[in-house]
Parts: sequence; structure tokens; C-alpha cells
Amino acid sequence: SKWKNLLEKLSAIEDLEEEEIAEILDAQDPELEKELFQLADQKRKEYVGDEVHLRGLIEFSNFCRKNCLYCGLRKDNKTLKRFRMSPEEIFSVAERAHRLGIQTIVLQSGEDLHYDAKTLAELIWKIKKLGVAVTLSVGEWEEEEYIIWREAGADRFLLKQETFDRELFSKLHPDDDFDQRLRCQQKLMEIGFQTGSGNIVGLPWQTTKHLAHDIKMFQKMDFDMIGIGPFIPHPSTPLGQHHTDTQLKLKLTLKTVALTRILTKNAHIPATTALGTLVAGGRELALRCGANVLMPNLTPLAYRSSYEIYPGKICIQENWGACIPCMKKMVEKMGRKVATNPGHSLKNRSRVHS
Ligand code: 5AD
Ligand code: SF4
Ligand code: FES
Repeated sequence: SKWKNLLEKLSAIEDLEEEEIAEILDAQDPELEKELFQLADQKRKEYVGDEVHLRGLIEFSNFCRKNCLYCGLRKDNKTLKRFRMSPEEIFSVAERAHRLGIQTIVLQSGEDLHYDAKTLAELIWKIKKLGVAVTLSVGEWEEEEYIIWREAGADRFLLKQETFDRELFSKLHPDDDFDQRLRCQQKLMEIGFQTGSGNIVGLPWQTTKHLAHDIKMFQKMDFDMIGIGPFIPHPSTPLGQHHTDTQLKLKLTLKTVALTRILTKNAHIPATTALGTLVAGGRELALRCGANVLMPNLTPLAYRSSYEIYPGKICIQENWGACIPCMKKMVEKMGRKVATNPGHSLKNRSRVHS
């Protein structure tokens, strides 16, 4: 086909120029998509195997000091009922998750200044004693705080750049500085965290050039983890009216996942809840074109619907813990395996893992 050369190059050297990536993202050719997804699936198998890692997500506070234009947790969204879990409550959820076989606990919140560094550190220490890996996803903090949490035993940290285009970043983030966010990610790596970045696909003003640049940056910065999800407009935000074609956005997100797998080789890549929200079966599609991680929602049901980053989020009416067997079934149905290890980074950085 017309794409033979690019696909052969991708397969052989696992690299492309930014312009070539944009060409692939722009193409609306089912034949190309099929071959790209097949190649990404093959590289996934080669570099990270058939194991799918379950990362148990506890969304422990939806308070946020910031006003990112796309996010339902933004400070100015006065329609949202805010909640905070106490450290004791968070620990008890982590304990129950561990008993169900979960080997990574992800602690996620808005940027909430209510929990000081020491409080979180003590919680991390306690959860680590269960014998699980701990991932933090709590936003931008000072190096001091990152170090305290690392010393308390936290293994990983997710802090997405959301977009690697400076101009688009500043349009979307009235409270943030592009370079500051980048520096945070570099600091996290230096401190010894397994570090996750990622982007949102289908944002207003975003072009395929921007996305191609994101993918090249994922490759250059060699992140341990990369989260890629579609933009889902939230009606109570400034971007609430920005609806675009679902199928196009789905394809664009899957192509971004596939290209990211091929270019980053062994990064951990989740099949995001946002993709499962965009379309039924979205996460399964991602698992077939590069993804190797799932994130069961373990937030107590009383709070779950209030962690409304975007509307229509799946898994909010389930029994607590229901995502775990549901995902196990999903993985096995696909002929894959649920991992029986904590799924640390596969990158070689001579880092000390827990
Ligand atoms: N649509 C999709 N993803 C979103 N996020 C925030 N708001 C939205 C939205 N409207 C993502 C961001 C953030 C993650 C927790 O949720 O990428 O890092
Ligand atoms: Fe707050 Fe994060 Fe949402 Fe931005 S994306 S408003 S920092 S929760
Ligand atoms: Fe949450 Fe199926 S994954 S209910």
C-alpha cells in the first residue's frame, strides 16, 4: 500500500520523523490502521509480553487549587460536590485491595493542599508495609516534598504533560508553566521515581503536529509509563461545548497509543478509563494496539461519582472491587494474562526499585 515504506521503517528501526508520524495520524485509511495496530500489538508482545498489570486506583480527594480548562475538578466548578478521604479510610481501602491481589496502589487527587507532605508520607509508609508498590498522582509539588514521599517508599509518580506544545499548554493551564511541569517530571526521574507522563488526544486547538511532537517527546524522555486518553468535554468547564467526532477521536487516540508503543518499546501504557468512557470496548481496543496496563477503580462508591474529571465515567455504579474480577475476565477473554508481579518499570536506569 501507499504506507508500505513508513510501516517497514517503523517495523525495522522503531523510529519515525515527526512529520512522518503526523502523516500517519492524518491518514484516514482503514488498511493503514489495521497494519499499524497489528505492528504495535506485535511489538507489545515482544517488549512487554502478554501480562497485563492492574493498578488499583484510589481517588482520595477531588479538591483542586487549579483551573485547567478541560477538567471537571477545576476550582471554579462550583457544581461539584467535593470530598476528602481521611488517611485511615485510604489505608483501609488499600488493605482491602491488597487482600484481593492488587499489587500496585495508585493514590490520585486534585492538587489539594489539605494533605501536607508528612501526612501523605506516613500513609505511604503504612501502605508500603502491606508489600505493594505505591504510585502517586497528586500533581506539581516542590522537590522537597517529592523527596519526602520517595523516602517514605513511594515507587512511582504520574505527572502528565498533557501536551508538549508550549502554546497549547499555556492556553489550557492558566495556573501552570510549561517548563515548570517539564522540570517536575525530570526531578521525579532524578529522585528515583518510576515516572509517568502522557497526553490528552482531541483537545481544542490541538493538531496532529502537536500529537506527533508528544509522541517524539515520550520517546526522547524515555518515561517509564505513558498515559494516553481522549478528551471528553465536561459541561461545567470552559471547554464543555467542544464536541468532535467520536470515531475520529477514537482512531486518533488508538493511533497515538500504537505509535507510542512502537517508539518507546517497553514503556508501561494503560488502556485508559477515558477510552472506555468514549466508546464501549475502548480499553480492549487499546490493549490490542500497544497497551499493557489497566486501572481498576477502587474509590469508595460514596465518592466515586464525585471524582468527575469528565462526564459519563464508567465503573461508577459497580460494587466496590467489582472492576478487579471484571478486568481479569476481560484480560483472559483476550488471551492475555493478569500479571502476578508488581509490574515495575522495564526501563534500565540503574535505579533502586523497592
Ligand atoms: N477528558 C479527558 N481526560 C481528562 N483529564 C482531565 N480532564 C479530562 C477530560 N475532560 C485527564 C488528565 C489528567 C487525568 C487525571 O485526567 O490527563 O492527567
Ligand atoms: Fe486540578 Fe489536575 Fe484537574 Fe488540573 S487536571 S484542574 S490540576 S485535578
Ligand atoms: Fe470497572 Fe468492568 S472494569 S466494572
